[in-house]
Amino acid sequence: MKQENKSVHGVWGSRWVFILAATGSAVGLGNIWRFPYITGENGGGAFVLLYLLCIAVVGIPIMAAEVMLGRKGGLSPINTMRKLAGESKVTQRWAGIGHMGVLSAFLILSFYSVVASWALYYAWEAVAGGFQGITAAQSGARFDALLADPWLMMGCHTLFMVLTMVVVGRGVKGGLEKAVEILMPLLFVLLLVLVGYAATTPGFKEGLLFLFEPDFSKLNGKVVITAVGQAFFTLSLGMGAIMAYGAYMPREAAGKKGGKPKPVSIMSTVIIIALLDTLVALGSGVAMFPLIFSNDLQVGQGPGMMFVTLPLAFGQMPGGMLFGSLFFILVVSAAWSSSISLGEPVVAWLVERGLSRGLAATVVGLGAWVLGIGSVLSFNLWQDNTFLAGTFFDNMEFLSTTVMLPLGGLLIAIFAGWVMKETHARKELGIKNFKLYLVWRALVRIFSPAAVVALFVYSIWSAVAPADEAAPVKEPEPVAPAASEAPGVAAGAEIPAPVAEPADDAEDGEVPSAPLEPAQ
Ligand code: PHE
Repeated sequence: MKQENKSVHGVWGSRWVFILAATGSAVGLGNIWRFPYITGENGGGAFVLLYLLCIAVVGIPIMAAEVMLGRKGGLSPINTMRKLAGESKVTQRWAGIGHMGVLSAFLILSFYSVVASWALYYAWEAVAGGFQGITAAQSGARFDALLADPWLMMGCHTLFMVLTMVVVGRGVKGGLEKAVEILMPLLFVLLLVLVGYAATTPGFKEGLLFLFEPDFSKLNGKVVITAVGQAFFTLSLGMGAIMAYGAYMPREAAGKKGGKPKPVSIMSTVIIIALLDTLVALGSGVAMFPLIFSNDLQVGQGPGMMFVTLPLAFGQMPGGMLFGSLFFILVVSAAWSSSISLGEPVVAWLVERGLSRGLAATVVGLGAWVLGIGSVLSFNLWQDNTFLAGTFFDNMEFLSTTVMLPLGGLLIAIFAGWVMKETHARKELGIKNFKLYLVWRALVRIFSPAAVVALFVYSIWSAVAPADEAAPVKEPEPVAPAASEAPGVAAGAEIPAPVAEPADDAEDGEVPSAPLEPAQ
Protein backbone atom coordinates (compact mmCIF):
# COMPACT_ATOMS: atom_id res chain seq x y z
CA MET A 1 0.00 0.00 0.00
CA LYS A 2 1.30 3.41 -0.89
CA GLN A 3 1.81 5.84 1.90
CA GLU A 4 1.75 9.31 0.32
CA ASN A 5 -1.29 11.24 1.38
CA LYS A 6 -2.84 12.07 -1.92
CA SER A 7 -2.34 8.80 -3.62
CA VAL A 8 -3.55 6.38 -1.00
CA HIS A 9 -7.03 6.56 -2.45
CA GLY A 10 -6.39 8.23 -5.81
CA VAL A 11 -7.88 11.38 -7.30
CA TRP A 12 -10.96 11.92 -9.49
CA GLY A 13 -10.13 12.40 -13.14
CA SER A 14 -11.79 15.79 -13.50
CA ARG A 15 -14.15 18.27 -11.94
CA TRP A 16 -16.93 16.66 -13.88
CA VAL A 17 -16.23 13.30 -12.27
CA PHE A 18 -16.33 14.91 -8.86
CA ILE A 19 -19.68 16.50 -9.68
CA LEU A 20 -21.00 13.14 -10.79
CA ALA A 21 -19.73 11.32 -7.75
CA ALA A 22 -20.97 13.93 -5.31
CA THR A 23 -24.32 14.12 -7.05
CA GLY A 24 -24.44 10.35 -6.89
CA SER A 25 -23.89 10.63 -3.18
CA ALA A 26 -26.43 13.39 -2.68
CA VAL A 27 -29.25 12.12 -4.87
CA GLY A 28 -30.69 9.02 -3.36
CA LEU A 29 -33.39 7.76 -1.09
CA GLY A 30 -33.20 11.04 0.78
CA ASN A 31 -34.76 12.76 -2.22
CA ILE A 32 -37.09 10.16 -3.61
CA TRP A 33 -38.18 8.27 -0.53
CA ARG A 34 -37.54 10.48 2.49
CA PHE A 35 -38.34 13.98 1.27
CA PRO A 36 -41.90 13.19 0.17
CA TYR A 37 -42.77 11.14 3.21
CA ILE A 38 -41.49 13.59 5.79
CA THR A 39 -43.09 16.44 3.88
CA GLY A 40 -46.36 14.57 4.26
CA GLU A 41 -45.79 14.00 7.95
CA ASN A 42 -44.79 17.58 8.59
CA GLY A 43 -47.67 19.35 7.00
CA GLY A 44 -46.44 20.28 3.50
CA GLY A 45 -45.67 23.79 2.23
CA ALA A 46 -44.22 25.44 5.32
CA PHE A 47 -41.91 22.49 5.84
CA VAL A 48 -40.83 22.57 2.18
CA LEU A 49 -40.07 26.27 2.37
CA LEU A 50 -38.02 25.84 5.50
CA TYR A 51 -36.18 22.93 3.94
CA LEU A 52 -35.32 25.01 0.86
CA LEU A 53 -34.09 27.79 3.08
CA CYS A 54 -31.93 25.37 5.01
CA ILE A 55 -30.43 24.07 1.77
CA ALA A 56 -29.58 27.60 0.65
CA VAL A 57 -28.18 29.15 3.79
CA VAL A 58 -26.94 26.17 5.74
CA GLY A 59 -26.49 23.30 3.29
CA ILE A 60 -24.60 24.99 0.47
CA PRO A 61 -22.08 26.86 2.62
CA ILE A 62 -21.41 23.82 4.78
CA MET A 63 -21.07 21.62 1.75
CA ALA A 64 -18.46 24.00 0.36
CA ALA A 65 -16.71 23.91 3.72
CA GLU A 66 -16.75 20.13 3.77
CA VAL A 67 -15.33 19.80 0.26
CA MET A 68 -12.74 22.43 1.07
CA LEU A 69 -11.59 20.65 4.23
CA GLY A 70 -11.52 17.35 2.39
CA ARG A 71 -9.47 18.65 -0.50
CA LYS A 72 -7.08 20.44 1.84
CA GLY A 73 -6.54 17.32 3.92
CA GLY A 74 -6.60 14.73 1.17
CA LEU A 75 -7.28 11.88 3.57
CA SER A 76 -10.21 10.09 5.16
CA PRO A 77 -12.28 12.48 7.30
CA ILE A 78 -10.73 11.36 10.58
CA ASN A 79 -7.17 11.85 9.36
CA THR A 80 -8.06 14.94 7.37
CA MET A 81 -9.36 16.58 10.52
CA ARG A 82 -6.33 15.41 12.45
CA LYS A 83 -4.01 16.85 9.85
CA LEU A 84 -5.85 20.15 9.58
CA ALA A 85 -6.05 20.49 13.35
CA GLY A 86 -2.28 20.01 13.43
CA GLU A 87 -1.77 22.65 10.76
CA SER A 88 -3.99 25.05 12.63
CA LYS A 89 -2.23 24.22 15.90
CA VAL A 90 -5.38 23.26 17.73
CA THR A 91 -6.25 20.13 19.65
CA GLN A 92 -6.46 16.83 17.83
CA ARG A 93 -9.90 16.43 19.34
CA TRP A 94 -11.23 17.99 16.16
CA ALA A 95 -10.74 14.56 14.67
CA GLY A 96 -13.87 13.83 16.68
CA ILE A 97 -15.81 15.22 13.70
CA GLY A 98 -14.46 12.28 11.76
CA HIS A 99 -15.18 9.77 14.50
CA MET A 100 -18.71 10.95 14.89
CA GLY A 101 -19.03 10.76 11.12
CA VAL A 102 -17.97 7.14 11.17
CA LEU A 103 -20.66 6.39 13.70
CA SER A 104 -23.29 8.29 11.69
CA ALA A 105 -22.23 6.40 8.60
CA PHE A 106 -22.83 3.07 10.30
CA LEU A 107 -26.22 4.08 11.61
CA ILE A 108 -27.37 5.53 8.29
CA LEU A 109 -25.97 2.72 6.19
CA SER A 110 -27.76 0.17 8.33
CA PHE A 111 -31.27 1.49 7.71
CA TYR A 112 -30.50 2.93 4.29
CA SER A 113 -29.75 -0.53 3.01
CA VAL A 114 -33.08 -1.79 4.31
CA VAL A 115 -35.08 0.89 2.53
CA ALA A 116 -32.99 0.52 -0.62
CA SER A 117 -33.75 -3.15 -0.52
CA TRP A 118 -37.48 -2.39 -0.66
CA ALA A 119 -36.75 -0.57 -3.89
CA LEU A 120 -34.79 -3.58 -5.05
CA TYR A 121 -37.77 -5.79 -4.39
CA TYR A 122 -40.06 -3.33 -6.14
CA ALA A 123 -37.82 -3.29 -9.19
CA TRP A 124 -38.35 -7.00 -9.37
CA GLU A 125 -42.09 -6.65 -8.87
CA ALA A 126 -42.28 -4.04 -11.60
CA VAL A 127 -40.41 -6.19 -14.07
CA ALA A 128 -42.74 -9.05 -13.24
CA GLY A 129 -45.72 -6.83 -14.06
CA GLY A 130 -46.96 -6.75 -10.49
CA PHE A 131 -48.33 -3.20 -10.67
CA GLN A 132 -50.63 -3.57 -13.63
CA GLY A 133 -54.13 -2.32 -12.79
CA ILE A 134 -53.36 -2.20 -9.08
CA THR A 135 -55.75 -0.32 -6.77
CA ALA A 136 -54.77 1.82 -3.83
CA ALA A 137 -55.85 -0.85 -1.36
CA GLN A 138 -53.93 -3.53 -3.20
CA SER A 139 -50.86 -1.37 -3.38
CA GLY A 140 -50.99 -0.80 0.38
CA ALA A 141 -51.48 -4.50 0.97
CA ARG A 142 -48.54 -5.38 -1.23
CA PHE A 143 -46.23 -3.15 0.73
CA ASP A 144 -47.59 -4.50 4.00
CA ALA A 145 -46.91 -8.01 2.81
CA LEU A 146 -43.28 -7.12 2.15
CA LEU A 147 -42.91 -5.56 5.59
CA ALA A 148 -44.50 -8.54 7.23
CA ASP A 149 -41.92 -10.90 5.78
CA PRO A 150 -38.64 -10.55 7.69
CA TRP A 151 -36.92 -13.25 5.64
CA LEU A 152 -37.69 -11.61 2.35
CA MET A 153 -36.52 -8.28 3.71
CA MET A 154 -33.37 -9.85 5.12
CA GLY A 155 -32.59 -11.36 1.75
CA CYS A 156 -32.99 -8.05 -0.05
CA HIS A 157 -31.06 -6.17 2.66
CA THR A 158 -28.20 -8.64 2.32
CA LEU A 159 -28.13 -8.32 -1.43
CA PHE A 160 -28.05 -4.55 -1.33
CA MET A 161 -25.30 -4.45 1.27
CA VAL A 162 -23.18 -6.83 -0.77
CA LEU A 163 -23.70 -4.69 -3.88
CA THR A 164 -22.56 -1.62 -1.98
CA MET A 165 -19.52 -3.15 -0.42
CA VAL A 166 -18.31 -4.75 -3.62
CA VAL A 167 -17.96 -1.29 -5.15
CA VAL A 168 -16.45 0.29 -2.05
CA GLY A 169 -14.05 -2.64 -1.79
CA ARG A 170 -12.81 -2.15 -5.32
CA GLY A 171 -12.29 1.57 -4.87
CA VAL A 172 -15.05 4.02 -5.61
CA LYS A 173 -13.46 5.50 -8.65
CA GLY A 174 -13.83 2.42 -10.79
CA GLY A 175 -17.19 2.24 -12.44
CA LEU A 176 -19.02 4.74 -10.33
CA GLU A 177 -18.71 7.78 -12.52
CA LYS A 178 -19.69 5.90 -15.64
CA ALA A 179 -22.77 4.57 -13.93
CA VAL A 180 -23.76 7.94 -12.51
CA GLU A 181 -23.19 9.66 -15.82
CA ILE A 182 -25.83 7.54 -17.49
CA LEU A 183 -28.20 6.77 -14.66
CA MET A 184 -28.69 10.23 -13.18
CA PRO A 185 -29.95 11.86 -16.38
CA LEU A 186 -32.22 8.88 -16.91
CA LEU A 187 -33.60 9.29 -13.43
CA PHE A 188 -34.42 12.92 -14.24
CA VAL A 189 -36.23 11.87 -17.37
CA LEU A 190 -38.30 9.26 -15.58
CA LEU A 191 -39.17 11.68 -12.83
CA LEU A 192 -40.46 13.98 -15.53
CA VAL A 193 -42.58 11.16 -16.90
CA LEU A 194 -44.01 10.63 -13.42
CA VAL A 195 -44.65 14.34 -12.97
CA GLY A 196 -46.36 14.33 -16.36
CA TYR A 197 -48.58 11.51 -15.26
CA ALA A 198 -49.33 13.20 -11.94
CA ALA A 199 -50.45 16.27 -13.90
CA THR A 200 -53.20 14.23 -15.52
CA THR A 201 -54.67 13.09 -12.21
CA PRO A 202 -57.51 14.92 -10.47
CA GLY A 203 -55.46 15.56 -7.33
CA PHE A 204 -52.71 17.46 -9.15
CA LYS A 205 -53.68 20.90 -7.99
CA GLU A 206 -54.27 19.78 -4.44
CA GLY A 207 -50.91 18.04 -4.45
CA LEU A 208 -49.13 21.18 -5.62
CA LEU A 209 -50.93 23.30 -3.08
CA PHE A 210 -49.99 20.92 -0.33
CA LEU A 211 -46.34 21.11 -1.34
CA PHE A 212 -45.99 24.76 -2.14
CA GLU A 213 -48.60 26.68 -0.18
CA PRO A 214 -47.05 27.31 3.20
CA ASP A 215 -49.31 27.17 6.19
CA PHE A 216 -47.10 28.53 8.92
CA SER A 217 -49.39 27.35 11.66
CA LYS A 218 -47.95 23.93 10.88
CA LEU A 219 -44.47 24.93 12.00
CA ASN A 220 -43.36 23.57 15.32
CA GLY A 221 -40.18 22.26 16.90
CA LYS A 222 -40.33 18.91 15.24
CA VAL A 223 -41.04 20.32 11.80
CA VAL A 224 -38.14 22.72 12.13
CA ILE A 225 -35.58 20.21 13.23
CA THR A 226 -36.73 17.67 10.70
CA ALA A 227 -36.20 20.23 7.93
CA VAL A 228 -32.65 20.94 9.10
CA GLY A 229 -31.88 17.26 9.39
CA GLN A 230 -33.27 16.60 5.94
CA ALA A 231 -31.13 19.36 4.41
CA PHE A 232 -28.05 17.66 5.83
CA PHE A 233 -29.17 14.18 4.92
CA THR A 234 -30.10 14.95 1.36
CA LEU A 235 -26.82 16.73 0.64
CA SER A 236 -24.84 13.97 2.40
CA LEU A 237 -23.43 16.51 4.85
CA GLY A 238 -22.18 16.36 8.37
CA MET A 239 -20.64 12.90 8.41
CA GLY A 240 -17.66 13.09 6.11
CA ALA A 241 -19.01 11.55 2.91
CA ILE A 242 -18.55 14.76 1.01
CA MET A 243 -15.29 15.41 2.83
CA ALA A 244 -14.00 12.03 1.72
CA TYR A 245 -15.04 12.70 -1.86
CA GLY A 246 -13.56 16.18 -1.62
CA ALA A 247 -10.26 14.55 -0.71
CA TYR A 248 -10.18 13.00 -4.16
CA MET A 249 -11.00 16.28 -5.87
CA PRO A 250 -8.22 17.67 -8.00
CA ARG A 251 -7.12 21.29 -7.59
CA GLU A 252 -6.67 21.70 -11.28
CA ALA A 253 -8.24 19.64 -13.94
CA ALA A 254 -9.04 19.48 -17.56
CA GLY A 255 -12.67 20.01 -18.50
CA LYS A 256 -14.99 17.18 -19.36
CA LYS A 257 -13.58 16.77 -22.81
CA GLY A 258 -9.96 17.35 -21.93
CA GLY A 259 -8.31 20.63 -22.84
CA LYS A 260 -6.20 22.94 -20.73
CA PRO A 261 -6.28 22.29 -17.00
CA LYS A 262 -8.20 24.92 -15.07
CA PRO A 263 -8.49 25.52 -11.34
CA VAL A 264 -11.46 23.63 -9.96
CA SER A 265 -13.77 25.96 -8.09
CA ILE A 266 -15.49 24.41 -5.14
CA MET A 267 -18.32 26.89 -4.81
CA SER A 268 -19.82 26.60 -8.27
CA THR A 269 -19.47 22.84 -8.12
CA VAL A 270 -21.34 22.71 -4.85
CA ILE A 271 -24.13 24.94 -6.12
CA ILE A 272 -24.67 22.67 -9.11
CA ILE A 273 -24.88 19.61 -6.88
CA ALA A 274 -27.32 21.26 -4.49
CA LEU A 275 -29.52 22.40 -7.35
CA LEU A 276 -29.68 18.97 -8.93
CA ASP A 277 -30.42 17.41 -5.59
CA THR A 278 -33.21 19.83 -4.81
CA LEU A 279 -34.77 19.34 -8.21
CA VAL A 280 -34.97 15.60 -7.68
CA ALA A 281 -36.55 16.03 -4.26
CA LEU A 282 -39.16 18.51 -5.47
CA GLY A 283 -39.81 16.40 -8.56
CA SER A 284 -40.47 13.38 -6.39
CA GLY A 285 -42.89 15.36 -4.27
CA VAL A 286 -44.72 16.67 -7.32
CA ALA A 287 -44.91 13.13 -8.67
CA MET A 288 -46.32 11.62 -5.48
CA PHE A 289 -48.63 14.06 -3.73
CA PRO A 290 -51.16 14.33 -6.55
CA LEU A 291 -51.49 10.54 -6.41
CA ILE A 292 -52.15 10.72 -2.70
CA PHE A 293 -54.97 13.18 -3.19
CA SER A 294 -56.33 11.44 -6.26
CA ASN A 295 -56.54 8.13 -4.46
CA ASP A 296 -57.66 9.30 -1.04
CA LEU A 297 -54.49 8.17 0.64
CA GLN A 298 -53.05 9.73 3.75
CA VAL A 299 -50.40 12.40 3.39
CA GLY A 300 -48.77 11.36 6.61
CA GLN A 301 -48.58 7.66 5.96
CA GLY A 302 -44.88 7.45 6.70
CA PRO A 303 -41.98 5.57 5.14
CA GLY A 304 -44.21 3.51 2.88
CA MET A 305 -45.41 6.51 0.89
CA MET A 306 -43.32 6.06 -2.22
CA PHE A 307 -43.94 2.34 -2.31
CA VAL A 308 -47.69 2.70 -2.05
CA THR A 309 -48.21 5.65 -4.39
CA LEU A 310 -45.86 5.05 -7.31
CA PRO A 311 -47.13 1.58 -8.23
CA LEU A 312 -50.52 3.25 -8.74
CA ALA A 313 -49.03 5.56 -11.32
CA PHE A 314 -47.16 2.79 -13.07
CA GLY A 315 -50.19 0.54 -12.93
CA GLN A 316 -52.31 3.10 -14.76
CA MET A 317 -50.09 5.00 -17.18
CA PRO A 318 -49.41 3.76 -20.68
CA GLY A 319 -46.08 1.95 -20.80
CA GLY A 320 -46.23 1.69 -17.03
CA MET A 321 -44.53 -1.65 -16.86
CA LEU A 322 -41.49 -0.42 -18.70
CA PHE A 323 -41.36 2.90 -16.88
CA GLY A 324 -41.99 1.26 -13.53
CA SER A 325 -39.23 -1.26 -13.99
CA LEU A 326 -36.80 1.38 -15.16
CA PHE A 327 -37.76 3.76 -12.40
CA PHE A 328 -37.23 1.34 -9.55
CA ILE A 329 -33.96 0.16 -11.07
CA LEU A 330 -32.87 3.79 -11.15
CA VAL A 331 -33.94 4.33 -7.56
CA VAL A 332 -31.82 1.36 -6.58
CA SER A 333 -28.89 2.81 -8.52
CA ALA A 334 -29.33 6.20 -6.89
CA ALA A 335 -29.46 4.55 -3.48
CA TRP A 336 -26.46 2.47 -4.41
CA SER A 337 -24.26 5.44 -5.29
CA SER A 338 -25.34 7.11 -2.03
CA SER A 339 -24.64 4.10 0.13
CA ILE A 340 -21.25 3.73 -1.48
CA SER A 341 -20.45 7.23 -0.28
CA LEU A 342 -21.65 6.29 3.18
CA GLY A 343 -19.20 3.42 3.31
CA GLU A 344 -16.28 5.29 1.78
CA PRO A 345 -15.16 7.48 4.73
CA VAL A 346 -14.97 4.52 7.07
CA VAL A 347 -13.28 2.24 4.57
CA ALA A 348 -10.79 4.96 3.59
CA TRP A 349 -9.90 5.38 7.23
CA LEU A 350 -9.37 1.65 7.74
CA VAL A 351 -7.23 1.57 4.60
CA GLU A 352 -5.08 4.35 6.04
CA ARG A 353 -4.68 2.20 9.12
CA GLY A 354 -3.24 -0.56 7.00
CA LEU A 355 -6.19 -2.79 6.11
CA SER A 356 -6.68 -3.85 2.54
CA ARG A 357 -9.63 -2.21 0.83
CA GLY A 358 -11.41 -5.49 0.40
CA LEU A 359 -11.10 -6.43 4.04
CA ALA A 360 -12.07 -2.95 5.20
CA ALA A 361 -15.20 -3.02 3.06
CA THR A 362 -16.11 -6.46 4.35
CA VAL A 363 -15.77 -5.37 7.97
CA VAL A 364 -17.82 -2.21 7.44
CA GLY A 365 -20.46 -3.99 5.40
CA LEU A 366 -20.84 -6.75 7.96
CA GLY A 367 -21.17 -4.28 10.81
CA ALA A 368 -23.81 -2.21 9.07
CA TRP A 369 -25.59 -5.35 7.90
CA VAL A 370 -25.91 -6.66 11.45
CA LEU A 371 -27.18 -3.30 12.68
CA GLY A 372 -29.61 -3.27 9.77
CA ILE A 373 -31.28 -6.42 11.05
CA GLY A 374 -32.76 -4.26 13.77
CA SER A 375 -34.38 -2.10 11.10
CA VAL A 376 -35.67 -5.12 9.21
CA LEU A 377 -37.34 -6.39 12.37
CA SER A 378 -38.75 -2.97 13.23
CA PHE A 379 -41.42 -3.51 10.61
CA ASN A 380 -42.55 -6.90 11.79
CA LEU A 381 -41.35 -8.86 14.83
CA TRP A 382 -40.21 -5.79 16.77
CA GLN A 383 -42.95 -3.55 15.50
CA ASP A 384 -44.35 -2.99 18.95
CA ASN A 385 -41.04 -2.58 20.72
CA THR A 386 -40.89 1.16 20.75
CA PHE A 387 -38.66 3.42 22.78
CA LEU A 388 -37.62 7.08 22.58
CA ALA A 389 -38.31 8.01 18.96
CA GLY A 390 -40.31 4.90 18.09
CA THR A 391 -39.13 1.61 16.67
CA PHE A 392 -35.48 0.67 16.34
CA PHE A 393 -35.64 1.93 12.76
CA ASP A 394 -37.15 5.25 13.85
CA ASN A 395 -34.43 5.69 16.40
CA MET A 396 -31.67 4.97 13.91
CA GLU A 397 -33.16 7.41 11.46
CA PHE A 398 -33.83 10.10 14.02
CA LEU A 399 -30.53 9.92 15.86
CA SER A 400 -28.36 9.88 12.77
CA THR A 401 -30.23 12.23 10.51
CA THR A 402 -31.81 14.71 12.82
CA VAL A 403 -29.26 14.85 15.60
CA MET A 404 -25.84 13.69 14.45
CA LEU A 405 -25.66 15.16 10.96
CA PRO A 406 -26.60 18.71 11.99
CA LEU A 407 -24.20 18.44 14.91
CA GLY A 408 -21.41 17.25 12.62
CA GLY A 409 -22.22 20.05 10.20
CA LEU A 410 -22.13 22.60 12.97
CA LEU A 411 -18.65 21.49 14.02
CA ILE A 412 -17.47 21.49 10.41
CA ALA A 413 -18.73 25.04 9.97
CA ILE A 414 -17.04 26.18 13.17
CA PHE A 415 -13.77 24.57 12.15
CA ALA A 416 -13.83 26.01 8.65
CA GLY A 417 -15.00 29.43 9.77
CA TRP A 418 -13.21 30.02 13.05
CA VAL A 419 -10.42 27.54 13.60
CA MET A 420 -8.77 27.14 10.25
CA LYS A 421 -6.44 29.85 9.02
CA GLU A 422 -8.42 32.25 6.90
CA THR A 423 -5.83 32.38 4.15
CA HIS A 424 -5.80 28.60 3.87
CA ALA A 425 -9.55 28.39 3.61
CA ARG A 426 -9.70 31.16 1.04
CA LYS A 427 -6.98 29.66 -1.08
CA GLU A 428 -8.44 26.19 -1.01
CA LEU A 429 -11.95 27.38 -1.80
CA GLY A 430 -10.68 29.39 -4.74
CA ILE A 431 -13.67 31.72 -4.98
CA LYS A 432 -12.57 34.36 -7.44
CA ASN A 433 -15.32 36.80 -6.67
CA PHE A 434 -14.32 38.36 -3.36
CA LYS A 435 -17.84 39.43 -2.44
CA LEU A 436 -19.07 35.90 -2.91
CA TYR A 437 -16.27 34.71 -0.71
CA LEU A 438 -17.31 37.13 2.00
CA VAL A 439 -20.86 35.87 1.78
CA TRP A 440 -19.65 32.31 2.19
CA ARG A 441 -17.49 33.29 5.11
CA ALA A 442 -20.27 35.11 6.89
CA LEU A 443 -22.56 32.15 6.36
CA VAL A 444 -20.18 29.52 7.71
CA ARG A 445 -18.91 31.64 10.55
CA ILE A 446 -22.10 33.10 11.82
CA PHE A 447 -25.24 32.26 10.03
CA SER A 448 -25.09 28.52 9.50
CA PRO A 449 -23.91 27.67 13.01
CA ALA A 450 -26.37 30.13 14.51
CA ALA A 451 -29.20 28.71 12.47
CA VAL A 452 -28.41 25.13 13.44
CA VAL A 453 -28.07 26.04 17.12
CA ALA A 454 -31.20 28.16 17.09
CA LEU A 455 -33.24 25.48 15.41
CA PHE A 456 -31.95 22.86 17.84
CA VAL A 457 -32.76 25.06 20.79
CA TYR A 458 -36.16 25.90 19.40
CA SER A 459 -37.11 22.30 18.93
CA ILE A 460 -35.83 21.24 22.33
CA TRP A 461 -37.71 24.13 23.84
CA SER A 462 -40.89 23.22 22.10
CA ALA A 463 -40.47 19.63 23.19
CA VAL A 464 -40.25 20.53 26.83
CA ALA A 465 -42.59 23.50 26.93
CA PRO A 466 -46.26 22.79 27.53
CA ALA A 467 -48.16 22.11 24.35
CA ASP A 468 -50.19 25.30 24.32
CA GLU A 469 -47.15 27.49 24.78
CA ALA A 470 -44.82 25.67 22.49
CA ALA A 471 -46.68 26.08 19.30
CA PRO A 472 -50.19 27.20 18.75
CA VAL A 473 -50.95 24.16 16.70
CA LYS A 474 -54.35 24.41 15.15
CA GLU A 475 -56.48 21.42 14.58
CA PRO A 476 -54.92 19.79 11.55
CA GLU A 477 -56.65 20.25 8.27
CA PRO A 478 -58.92 17.46 7.20
CA VAL A 479 -56.52 16.55 4.39
CA ALA A 480 -54.02 15.33 6.87
CA PRO A 481 -55.75 12.90 9.11
CA ALA A 482 -54.39 10.12 11.23
CA ALA A 483 -50.65 9.71 11.15
CA SER A 484 -50.01 13.20 9.89
CA GLU A 485 -51.33 14.53 13.13
CA ALA A 486 -48.28 13.23 14.81
CA PRO A 487 -46.41 16.49 14.31
CA GLY A 488 -49.18 18.36 16.02
CA VAL A 489 -49.05 15.99 18.90
CA ALA A 490 -45.33 16.03 18.92
CA ALA A 491 -45.16 19.79 19.10
CA GLY A 492 -45.52 19.83 22.77
CA ALA A 493 -45.18 16.23 23.65
CA GLU A 494 -43.09 15.68 26.70
CA ILE A 495 -43.53 11.98 26.48
CA PRO A 496 -41.20 10.61 23.91
CA ALA A 497 -43.14 7.43 23.39
CA PRO A 498 -45.14 7.17 20.22
CA VAL A 499 -48.39 5.94 21.52
CA ALA A 500 -51.02 5.31 19.02
CA GLU A 501 -49.32 3.42 16.29
CA PRO A 502 -51.67 0.54 15.63
CA ALA A 503 -54.65 2.86 15.67
CA ASP A 504 -53.29 4.74 12.68
CA ASP A 505 -52.96 1.63 10.67
CA ALA A 506 -56.46 0.58 11.25
CA GLU A 507 -57.59 3.68 9.38
CA ASP A 508 -57.44 2.28 5.94
CA GLY A 509 -54.89 -0.43 6.10
CA GLU A 510 -52.45 1.45 3.92
CA VAL A 511 -49.27 1.06 5.82
CA PRO A 512 -49.50 -0.97 8.94
CA SER A 513 -46.31 0.08 10.49
CA ALA A 514 -46.06 3.71 9.55
CA PRO A 515 -43.81 4.53 12.45
CA LEU A 516 -44.52 7.66 14.31
CA GLU A 517 -42.00 10.38 14.14
CA PRO A 518 -40.08 11.02 17.28
CA ALA A 519 -41.88 13.16 19.75
CA GLN A 520 -39.86 16.28 19.75
N1 PHE B 1 -27.70 12.05 0.52
C1 PHE B 1 -28.12 10.69 0.48
C2 PHE B 1 -29.57 10.65 0.02
O1 PHE B 1 -30.19 11.65 -0.11
C3 PHE B 1 -27.95 9.99 1.80
C4 PHE B 1 -26.63 10.17 2.41
C5 PHE B 1 -26.51 10.80 3.63
C6 PHE B 1 -25.47 9.73 1.77
C7 PHE B 1 -25.29 11.02 4.22
C8 PHE B 1 -24.22 9.95 2.34
C9 PHE B 1 -24.15 10.60 3.55
O2 PHE B 1 -30.11 9.61 -0.17
